[in-house]
This record gives sequence, C-alpha cells and structure tokens, in this order.
Amino acid sequence: MSVLDQEFMIGFIRMATDGFEHGWHERNGGNLSYRMKEEEVAAVAGELNHDAPWQPIGTEVPGLAGEYFLVTGSGKYFRNVCLDPAANLAIIEIDESGTQYKICWGLVNGGRPTSELPSHLMNHEVKKRVTNGAYRVIYHCHATNVIAMTFVLPLTDEAFTRELWEMATECPVVFPQGVGVVPWMVPGGREIGVETSKLMEDYDVAIWAHHGMFCAGPDFDITYGLADTVEKSAEIWIKVRSCTPEKRQTITPEDFRELAPAFGIELPEKFLYEKH
Ligand code: 13P
Ligand code: ZN
Repeated sequence: MSVLDQEFMIGFIRMATDGFEHGWHERNGGNLSYRMKEEEVAAVAGELNHDAPWQPIGTEVPGLAGEYFLVTGSGKYFRNVCLDPAANLAIIEIDESGTQYKICWGLVNGGRPTSELPSHLMNHEVKKRVTNGAYRVIYHCHATNVIAMTFVLPLTDEAFTRELWEMATECPVVFPQGVGVVPWMVPGGREIGVETSKLMEDYDVAIWAHHGMFCAGPDFDITYGLADTVEKSAEIWIKVRSCTPEKRQTITPEDFRELAPAFGIELPEKFLYEKH
C-alpha cells in the first residue's frame, strides 16, 4: 500500500479539507501535524528517502528524538491538500538530538514544513509526555469567531474558558480543563512555541490573540471535533454579543457544579468565579 492509501494519510487529508470548507484556512492559513505510529512508519518505510540534509528545527525537542511526523508545508494551501498531497505535505524525521529534521517524503515541488514547526513540535513533546504517548495530532486553524473574541474579552484563560463554557452545555464536557490564551506574539518562531507549549501542560486548546487557535488530541476526529466545538461556541458568543451587551440569563457557576458529577468530569473552580 502506498503512502497515499494509508489510513493516517486519508484521515489527515480529510481533516485539512474539512477545515478549509469550514472557512478556517484562507490562503495558506493554518497548519496540521501528526506523530506517526511505529507500525505506520514501518508500513511506508520503502517510500521514505533518507538522502535529504538535516535542517535545524529552531528549537529543541529531545522527547521526540527519532519520531516521524506528517506535516503541512509552509505557504501551502489547505484547499490544495486533497488535490495533491505529495506537493503540499511532508513526512519528516527528527534526529537523535531533537534539534534537526529531515524531509523523507513529499513536498515534491520543493518547500519546507510549516513555519509553525517549532510550536507544533514543542506542543507534541509536552502532549506525548503528559498523555503517555496517547496524543498524536496538533492542529492550528484561523477560526473566525475565536479570533473575533480576542478583540473583546480580556486575554485570560479564565475569561475565555468561562465564556466559551457558557455558550453551550456540552462545552465543559468536551474541554473540561478549559482553554489557555497566548497574548499577541510574533508567529512562526520558538518564543510563541514556548508560551503555547506551557499552556499545553494543562489544556488541549491554546488561543492565539488576533491569530487563531491550536488544538491537541489523540486522533483526527477528536482534535477536529474539539476545534469545531470551540469555534461553534465562539460563534454563539459573537451572536449573543452582537444582540446585547449583557446576557439576560446563562449557565451559572452552580449549574456547572451540578453538571460536573453528572458527566463524570472535574471543572476547576478557578473558572467558576462570581461575575460582578
Ligand atoms: P505556514 O504556511 O508556514 O504553515 O503558516 C501559516 C500560518 O498559519 C502561520 O501561523
Ligand atoms: Zn496561523
């Protein structure tokens, strides 16, 4: 079976296409990465080329030494991924020091992995550690309503988590840990990756002010579903806010405390503060 017929490749392409169709990937906006399983690397070993030079990642991820990732290319359009995966995606290998990568497949017309590779890999490194290897997907999208919210709310984990939870009863069930917020920073480098990966210690969602969000998860369905849930909640928030400066009624801290045991989740008290 060729690389293109592998289940992980089909899932990756479907997620990229879904994100584009949702309107979260204008032009080359957004990027996606998947940490391949050992058996998936073995299944495509015959198609991997190890002749390309090692390149600096721009950060250190020793916890990912020897891992392989499927990633989107920098400047490539999500819209085109399904039409020509080999031109828009790459499989990269991480070296034994965790400081360099090598392109082993894809980007057949040239190019390099996403400019957000440092953020992706630092997030993967944290998630691999804190989930004992269960998490494999990191997704960055330019979700419209989430971005809009970052112009209105204070840029705190508490404000964003609480407002997003209030907009749909299922939200605290889908992301009970809440969401983290990174203030505006220059994208594409190590610094924003450091700040984002700190948030990934606690959360599966990191919102980048005036830019977009990062989601992490074990597979494509759960990670995409998470982004979809957060963005839908943000859309409701923007609609409510467009109608009225104050909500007439909402889900209260007491309601959340009642919800938690019913769904077998824990909701940190820091998000259930009284509003004045
Ligand atoms: P890339 O095209 O390099 O992936 O950049 C897109 C983006 O969204 C940067 O944050
Ligand atoms: Zn971006």
